Amino acid sequence: MTFTVSVGTDSVECRPDQPILDALLRGSVWMPNSCNQGTCGTCKLRVVSGSVDHGRSPENTLSPAEREQGFALACQATPCSDTVVERLDASPAGDVHALRDVVGTVSAIEDVARDTRRVLVTLDSPLEFSAGQYVELRVPGTGHGRQYSMANTPGESKQLEFHIRRQPGGAATDGWVFSSMSVGERVDMVGPLGDFRLDPEDEGPMILLGGGTGLAPLKSITRQALTKEPDRAVHLYHGVRGEADLYDVDLLREWERAHPGFRYVPCLSDEAWSGRSGYVTDAFVEDFDTCRGHSGYLCGPPAMVDAGIKAFKRRRMAPRRIFREKFTPAG
Ligand code: FES
Repeated sequence: MTFTVSVGTDSVECRPDQPILDALLRGSVWMPNSCNQGTCGTCKLRVVSGSVDHGRSPENTLSPAEREQGFALACQATPCSDTVVERLDASPAGDVHALRDVVGTVSAIEDVARDTRRVLVTLDSPLEFSAGQYVELRVPGTGHGRQYSMANTPGESKQLEFHIRRQPGGAATDGWVFSSMSVGERVDMVGPLGDFRLDPEDEGPMILLGGGTGLAPLKSITRQALTKEPDRAVHLYHGVRGEADLYDVDLLREWERAHPGFRYVPCLSDEAWSGRSGYVTDAFVEDFDTCRGHSGYLCGPPAMVDAGIKAFKRRRMAPRRIFREKFTPAG
């Protein structure tokens, strides 16, 4: 049994146990989304007609008053009848890639920095996505998923690259990626997800601030932007604690040599060295008096992303030009 969920002129079929977001994205109908876990509020929508079950929608993301007023979280709500919903945000520019289940094979595992692995997964069939998006890997034997951004570009859609940081005691990292995962292992995942992505309509200068493995989607976005426009001004700041946490340095230096407009700035917050020290957001503020006309992309721990948004605004970046992806360590 399914219900019909409609948004504007689009309709999809949705099972009573299926989140509305899942059904819409599988039907290539865009709905803003980010965490897919009920915590960010990005997917909030208005139920125009019909009724929904709010599932596990947390009260601090969807208050009782909002439920009364007909709001719901698309990633948590399931339909109880045919339902018409309305987006609160305009649809983004660019392609909408259908969400789907994907299977692949681990083709390489490489220790690239302290407690950080690069994992390559060759897919059975290519996955269309936009630079900046992520997939959810299913962690074997747990019934849970973990979200990892693609570091490769959409043009390399047959082999996905992930950067995974170890979380001590974590079921996905200590319990899998850093222990039992091996080349040749089959991996299930669902994706692509998220609306953190390279704006296809923007061709202006870009500033990207990443913390730790937040480099992954920024690497994809940078490469995609430079592939399209080799001379574009792109400033990539990568913040980590110590030199042992840096990775892909040689590759990014190579990109600097190949692209005169590209600048790579690694920053160490806990160590003095021959390069920049301190927080990545402070390094950006020191370098720019103004960034009017620039776009800003941020990915990393919430505190870094919040500081980056403030820093961009202080330097006069238009709020609509700021794109961000927060992640919290999920073992
Ligand atoms: Fe974050 Fe639904 S609450 S995507």
